[in-house]
Amino acid sequence: MTPSTDWKEVIAPDEAAVFERLAAQLADLQKARAAKSAMRRALHAKPNVVAHATLEVMGALPAHAAVGLFAQPKTYQAVVRFSNGGGAVQGDKRPDVRGVGVKVLGVGGTKLIPGLENAPTQDFLAILSSAVPFRTPEEFVWVVVNSVNPLAFLFKALAHLGPGRALSLLGALQKGLGAPVPSLAANRYYSALPIRFGAHAAKYAFVPVGVEPATGSTPDDLGAELAGRLAKGPLGWDLQVQFFTDERTTPIEDPTIDWPTPFVKVARLTLAKQDVASERGKKLATWAEHLSFDPWHAPVEFRPLGAMMRSRSAAYRVSTQTRTVSPEPASIPAELVG
Ligand code: HEM
Repeated sequence: MTPSTDWKEVIAPDEAAVFERLAAQLADLQKARAAKSAMRRALHAKPNVVAHATLEVMGALPAHAAVGLFAQPKTYQAVVRFSNGGGAVQGDKRPDVRGVGVKVLGVGGTKLIPGLENAPTQDFLAILSSAVPFRTPEEFVWVVVNSVNPLAFLFKALAHLGPGRALSLLGALQKGLGAPVPSLAANRYYSALPIRFGAHAAKYAFVPVGVEPATGSTPDDLGAELAGRLAKGPLGWDLQVQFFTDERTTPIEDPTIDWPTPFVKVARLTLAKQDVASERGKKLATWAEHLSFDPWHAPVEFRPLGAMMRSRSAAYRVSTQTRTVSPEPASIPAELVG
């Protein structure tokens, strides 16, 4: 069955100014942290592992999925950065978002960001949850900014959001972020928010392939656990997409809803066996710290959708301008690939 093309965004007339203000709030936090330690990303400051990888596009996909780089079977080089979500670098046992950024290199097509139309990359950013507890970008940034002081946070949340919303949001956060993550290898990672997919709209997920489910508590060092696995052999995730069907079941503007539509496999991400702790591996990680992974690094037919996604356009731009980043790379320097 061909999915619907009847999706639409609802764009508030003043939202661009609101998103700039939210981005500035995150950058203020980023600069305040930099004054005490080093200049890092406003969010996802701590890398767990950086690895080189390939993205193999399957081919023979249904017409609605055979869009852009998914139109032809081809293998692309990619760089993958696993991270904790916080803007501060902290121990891995602390509750946190866990994310992955996948930058696919050598991707053609006209890109979205003005001035970067010819950039050779397409980025996929994903986290462990398939939806988010925040209804709006304002709510998300409010929590990020105010949770810096956990003691005052509960009282502020009760006053700002009202008791009902505050308690349900805090409950969802505690459940989501507090869940143990025994390994970064055994998880599904979700876009959580939609993107255009040609004429359609879709969310995507990286689904681990051939990995025994991990059990137990979160280790002291999630990066070391993943590095240990990569030293022994490759790790794979299938890139799968699920399509918009109708506004009620697969809403574009409500980021709290987990879409129930089936997933279609479009590509396989493979992290080759590698020693991320070697001199080469460390140099690759340093190189990646200066990159920008951004859902808006994408061809026009994959434009991020919904207010939360549109707010990210400003947030990632301001965070990367605050820390200064390298230009979009066409490939990984040969000496950094083991
Ligand atoms: C809900 C879906 C989201 C996902 C899946 C996601 C995922 C990620 C990931 C994986 C990274 C790290 C990228 C890297 O390794 O460089 C990141 C960074 C970041 N995220 Fe998000 N994020 C989401 C929502 C948001 C929202 C709503 C905002 C703000 C409005 C935001 C702001 C940022 C910022 C400022 C960075 C650092 C950018 C940089 O300096 O490179 N994110 N995100």
